Amino acid sequence: MAGGGFVGGDGGRSYEGGVTVFVVFTCLAAAMGGLLFGYDLGISGGVTSMESFLSKFFPSVYHKMKNESAGQNQYCKFDSQLLTLFTSCLYIAALVASFFASSVTRKFGRKISMFVAGLVFLMGSVLNGVANNIVLLIIGRLLLGIGVGFANQSVPVYLAEMAPTKIRGALNMGFQMAITIGILVAGLVNFGTVKIKGGYGWRISLALAAVPSLMMTLAAVFLPDTPNSILERGHPEKAKKMLQKIRGTDNVDEEFQDLLNATEVANRVENQWINITQPRYRPQLIICFLVPFFQQLTGINVIMFYAPVLFMTLGFGNEASLMSSVITGGVNVVATLVSIFTVDKFGRRILFLQGGVQMIICQIAVGVMIGKEFGVSGEGSFSKGEANWILFFVCAYVAAFAWSWGPLGWLVPSEICPLEIRSAGQAINVSVNMLFTFLIGQVFLTMLCHLKFGLFFFFAGFVIIMTIFITFFLPETKNVPIEEMNRVWKAHWFWGKYIPDEAVTHGRQDRAA
Ligand code: BGC
Repeated sequence: MAGGGFVGGDGGRSYEGGVTVFVVFTCLAAAMGGLLFGYDLGISGGVTSMESFLSKFFPSVYHKMKNESAGQNQYCKFDSQLLTLFTSCLYIAALVASFFASSVTRKFGRKISMFVAGLVFLMGSVLNGVANNIVLLIIGRLLLGIGVGFANQSVPVYLAEMAPTKIRGALNMGFQMAITIGILVAGLVNFGTVKIKGGYGWRISLALAAVPSLMMTLAAVFLPDTPNSILERGHPEKAKKMLQKIRGTDNVDEEFQDLLNATEVANRVENQWINITQPRYRPQLIICFLVPFFQQLTGINVIMFYAPVLFMTLGFGNEASLMSSVITGGVNVVATLVSIFTVDKFGRRILFLQGGVQMIICQIAVGVMIGKEFGVSGEGSFSKGEANWILFFVCAYVAAFAWSWGPLGWLVPSEICPLEIRSAGQAINVSVNMLFTFLIGQVFLTMLCHLKFGLFFFFAGFVIIMTIFITFFLPETKNVPIEEMNRVWKAHWFWGKYIPDEAVTHGRQDRAA
């Protein structure tokens, strides 16, 4: 990805031109990408708790659930590898697709990848809506995964290249905001469709994903490609014209020169993958791996995928379970706003640390309450008051995630890498995120069955580790221009030794050249 020079404030420069209609369209396109991803994250949990869906595709799970008797182990009633495969296969497809997408995005442009994402997604939604057997259902899910892989790879790149610098940070978090809205909409849709008589509500839930897909496909047809991409593919004249058009001014020389320089630096690097393994990029390499890994090990997707199933396990009724996931979805959206408004003021570290501590407290509280009621045998049920406390702690946990690891999990890896390793760093971030989303999705119900209430302590343990990691190893990057990020690493007590002296002025020299 070739980002421009820019950077207002803090001694950086700012370019001419403002927010144009094109940029507003850019936001909408990004929103579609985030919505697609969010809708998928949020829809399967509710669908897999619908009786008509279970009885059709997963009869053994259905019977286990139906035949529950007083002596049944609640922890294991949903444990089925096939059921979890329905949820999680999407992410393995997304992981694989994101590598293909990175070549398509580079060779053929960003909008082609966005178009592919929308189209494949549309096919997947339709297939899921009409599926009559498990094979079609899983193929539909795999198609959706390919869509997510292409969208998550291309949309953030498209955004970063289209956005004027001064709203780049907000746009980045806008993507996460769209994800959370997608999850909430999915929860609401499930809440509505479960009431439909005739047992086909799940079809509507799954097929409605076609709406954001269609919007994204159309958006991709009409949106222009980014100047960076046009330049990268060897058309400097066209690229400059496009830059003038999207910035709404003819005076784009400075930004265009920066684009040329940036493209040149990036082109000098023969192989980003070999490049990123050099010791001087060690901090970025490790953080681009650990941040998405830790983000998933917060256990957030246990809630996002399985909230309805989890609440049913805890003895909530069918409708109350779906309602609870709407509540957690709402909290997720609102709490993301907190992050948008505070991240550039108070910084990344304080959000990570506060969010981490809050998550640990909530997870331990939930673990203790479930442990007390259900013990290891898995027999028991909550009183209404206890159930409300559980819901409270789950919401406080989701809120903490939504202003810390949620948006920062995407923001931090995208802002710490110098241009020459930026797209490799981003690819590592996306694929590690998808891999662990898959793994958590796949093993959660089995883990619940075996670890029981201890599962909540398991995730709390990881949040303790990641909070300690942030305390010692993540420097503050608030208000640091992207090209000057090496200064921060150089000044760090641990990472400093990896950064050669000349790297600290590297960005500026390239710009001045
Ligand atoms: C994560 C997803 C998660 C979502 C919840 C995203 O940042 O990558 O895995 O489901 O946040 O809002």
